[in-house]
Amino acid sequence: MPVVFPVVEMSFIETEIGGLYLIRAYCGCLYSSKICVFVRAWVQKEYRGQGWQKRMIKVRERAARKGCSAIVTYTTPDNFPSANSLIRCGFLLHEPMYAYAGREMMYFIKRF
Ligand SMILES: CC(C)(COP(=O)(O)OP(=O)(O)OC[C@H]1O[C@@H](n2cnc3c(N)ncnc32)[C@H](O)[C@@H]1OP(=O)(O)O)[C@@H](O)C(=O)NCCC(=O)NCCS
Repeated sequence: MPVVFPVVEMSFIETEIGGLYLIRAYCGCLYSSKICVFVRAWVQKEYRGQGWQKRMIKVRERAARKGCSAIVTYTTPDNFPSANSLIRCGFLLHEPMYAYAGREMMYFIKRF
């Protein structure tokens, strides 16, 4: 069974096969002025579409709720799986004051 290991900034979902740990998925976040910034999310191809990204969003959200007032993140406009996962988890599209990853990105926010 895959196991989720939440740590301070990165979470990995691993599976053990013959003593080797293989990473199925990973994600990360940074914290700045009570804002949590999601910076990474990746799921190995054969495990996509099984809800792993949404689980990783929820792991990071639980951590963020302990001291942050909001989570922000972005994705490219053609990344439908990523955008839909964020929408399902309650994120809204927004226009940031500073488009830190470029004007062409779609920015999301979830306020607590
Ligand atoms: C983006 C990524 C992390 C998604 O991971 P995942 O575990 O497959 O995501 P989930 O299964 O939690 O959710 C995917 C959602 O997108 C939907 N989806 C999948 N393909 C889609 C498509 N082509 N169009 C629209 N929606 C799509 C799924 O139905 C699901 O939504 P649902 O909960 O309403 O059914 C994965 O595709 C990936 O690693 N991509 C490469 C790296 C990347 O793009 N990272 C994100 C950077 S912002």
